[in-house]
Amino acid sequence: MKIRRGRTADAQAIGRVHVETWQATYAGLLPDAMLVRMSEARQAAYWQRSLADPREARGIFVAEDDDMGVVGFGSCGPVRDPPDGLNGTEQRVGEVYTLYVEPDFQNRGLGRRLLDAMFRQLRADGFDTAVLWMLARNPTRFFYEGMGGDPAGSRTDRFSGTDVEEVAYAWRDLDAPLVRRRLAPEEEG
Ligand SMILES: CC(C)(COP(=O)(O)OP(=O)(O)OC[C@H]1O[C@@H](n2cnc3c(N)ncnc32)[C@H](O)[C@@H]1OP(=O)(O)O)[C@@H](O)C(=O)NCCC(=O)NCCS
Repeated sequence: MKIRRGRTADAQAIGRVHVETWQATYAGLLPDAMLVRMSEARQAAYWQRSLADPREARGIFVAEDDDMGVVGFGSCGPVRDPPDGLNGTEQRVGEVYTLYVEPDFQNRGLGRRLLDAMFRQLRADGFDTAVLWMLARNPTRFFYEGMGGDPAGSRTDRFSGTDVEEVAYAWRDLDAPLVRRRLAPEEEG
């Protein structure tokens, strides 16, 4: 299983993983009408355009299985909507826009490896902080907390006419290893 930068030839596969993971993850969290209307072809066209733009493509990474092809992806770049919980010490803020791993391939370390690749890219591009927005009700929150993200604000977004609460996480040391902190034996109760 390898992590590499995305290329235009991946657009179709990323579009498929995008729709599959949204429908699996967001059922009950986002309006059904919106989820059933999602189209792999439309998402593929969106990713095709992003991958064809070198400034965007440098922040797009895929996880590739030898047999199954692309099974996960993530994208990052300059912050689009800085959360209000940033404390003002941040100089250049980047953002992880997306991170999705197919259900059958979750919990094998691919999410961590994709996040790591994106943080390296953001560092290389001169960012000192990364933020990420996610649905407040998405249980994946605990994944980001395990990866060292700190709560950094909230906002209300609108999906197909429905208001949805979102929360932001921030990482202020993009060099720190993404290891889940485990209690040392002497710290355990
Ligand atoms: C969130 C996601 C990207 C994580 O990727 P993954 O490949 O499953 O995660 P990893 O295998 O790298 O997990 C790394 C660590 O996080 C833990 N973890 C993974 N998902 C978790 C969750 N939902 N809650 C708590 N811990 C979680 C793993 O157990 C592992 O812990 P360890 O270090 O103790 O071994 C993936 O599960 C996913 O795509 N989920 C659905 C879509 C989604 O919600 N995306 C985020 C939108 S912002």
